[in-house]
Amino acid sequence: WDPPVPLWSATDKSSFAYESTSKRWPEILAGTISGLVNASHALSYQNDGENVTGKMEESKIIIEKLSKLKHDMGRDRPLEAIGLSESDELGTAEFDEVVKQKGWTWFNAPWLFAECYLYRLIRSFFATSQHWKYYDPFAAQKISAFRSSGKAINELAKTVEELVRKAESAQTSDSSKAAAEGGEGQKLIFYLLAQSSLWGNATDLSLLTSLSHADIQDLQAGGLSTSAQAERAKYILTGLGGLDQAWAKVSAAKDGRVDFVLDNAGFEVTTDLLFADWLLATGHVKEVVFHPKVLPWFVSDVTPADFHYTLAALQSSDFFTDVSAGQSDGGKKAAESAAAKAELDPSYFLNAQGASVQPSQSYVIDTSAVTKHVSAAQNTSGSTAIQRLAARWSKHLSEGRFRLAFDGKLGQAAGPLGDFWTSFHFYADLPTAALELNADLRKSSLVIFKGDLNTRKLLSDARWPDTTPFDQAMGPLAGQFDTLVLRTCKADVCAGLSQERFEAVQREDPKWRVNGKWAIIVYVARK
Ligand code: F6P
Ligand code: MG
Repeated sequence: WDPPVPLWSATDKSSFAYESTSKRWPEILAGTISGLVNASHALSYQNDGENVTGKMEESKIIIEKLSKLKHDMGRDRPLEAIGLSESDELGTAEFDEVVKQKGWTWFNAPWLFAECYLYRLIRSFFATSQHWKYYDPFAAQKISAFRSSGKAINELAKTVEELVRKAESAQTSDSSKAAAEGGEGQKLIFYLLAQSSLWGNATDLSLLTSLSHADIQDLQAGGLSTSAQAERAKYILTGLGGLDQAWAKVSAAKDGRVDFVLDNAGFEVTTDLLFADWLLATGHVKEVVFHPKVLPWFVSDVTPADFHYTLAALQSSDFFTDVSAGQSDGGKKAAESAAAKAELDPSYFLNAQGASVQPSQSYVIDTSAVTKHVSAAQNTSGSTAIQRLAARWSKHLSEGRFRLAFDGKLGQAAGPLGDFWTSFHFYADLPTAALELNADLRKSSLVIFKGDLNTRKLLSDARWPDTTPFDQAMGPLAGQFDTLVLRTCKADVCAGLSQERFEAVQREDPKWRVNGKWAIIVYVARK
């Protein structure tokens, strides 16, 4: 689909597209290089029979490729074919064809195309290696930000656990009073959890290239208290009307299915899981389907490995670095030492509770280890609300109430239900370029699109006037299924604002499009 307005691109020097291309991508690449240098350096301390020398040598080749990429980008060189054939995990023929045909450079390509191409190109360096195939260059960052989120997560979890318990007892109770209370409160809780999942999107590692522990805590402050949310609701540019429509849909469902097109790992996906668990507890929804990304994407997006990792880490007693409240000195020390080990080896928490750390496995998240870990955790009744909830989520997953649309090791093709998300296509192309996925999403009662990138793709990253009706800007996708968008604004594109709101925010905060402080909630109904 070709939108009737031009696309955002770094040719416009006043755009965020330009800032991103000229400053942030080089920073992301620099971080990727130094992460790989560290991982390779950590290998030099190890002598476990693995081909350490071969692995270290190969890391140098990948570092050279990353450095060349950074250099070429800075000089605005043309994009080159990536060259992965269909037999190399995800082929890149579609990307390569466009690149050949268009002859775009890093700065004159449409911003969204160049950014998708960037992450596919980075992946290709690892995918074609012998020793670094399963290395996620952003894993260490994702995990370290997540470990700083314990305070906010624990607070949310305590509240949600109580809400879920009440919702479930209202469902099973004969007492009409309890049932009525359950019904009455449900809409309010829906609002709270949807907003918590919305603001969970404010923690995004690709935007915040150097996020301190304190920054993360600030971003996540607010929690579930009604007053804190009312305070933040002022920043929702579309108002909360979209949630009225979404709740009407969910509360009318019988044995419904809700889909989450996920965005970021760590804190954000935890807020999604809290929301999802509560949707099941309402009794209206019997299945929640999560759509991750098949490869490391826009730094912090959830891969299947991240998803499993999240469930395992949340059940561990020593994962968070910041859960000081109520923790003994011994507990804090244990957490610190575990954190230090995890810094070297993000798979630490999966290698079972303090057992030997194996740097050779660095950054490889092995799903069988997760399964072992999770079943061990299920046998012990967790001591904190989040541990108990995460154990419950693992059970939802093993019993099919939660489902990943596709699963598997890094880089395995996701197939017709997953490869589309890491293509360059706008979502307007979903009905024509991803027939099976579109048909599958049409089985859902509600599809929730999380975050900024998903919204850019919904809007074809085009220069719509901000007051364009959102469904119009969605093109042919509008009306295919019931859609709820929960996005904090971090890129130029926007739509769906009233003239009045648009003028007011322009006056109040000239950086509103990109500073992550403002948000939109939009509902587009199925036709
Ligand atoms: O340029 C900022 C950016 O990388 C955008 O490309 C992208 O839309 C956003 O950050 C990622 O944010 P989110 O994780 O919310 O999709
Ligand atoms: Mg993201």
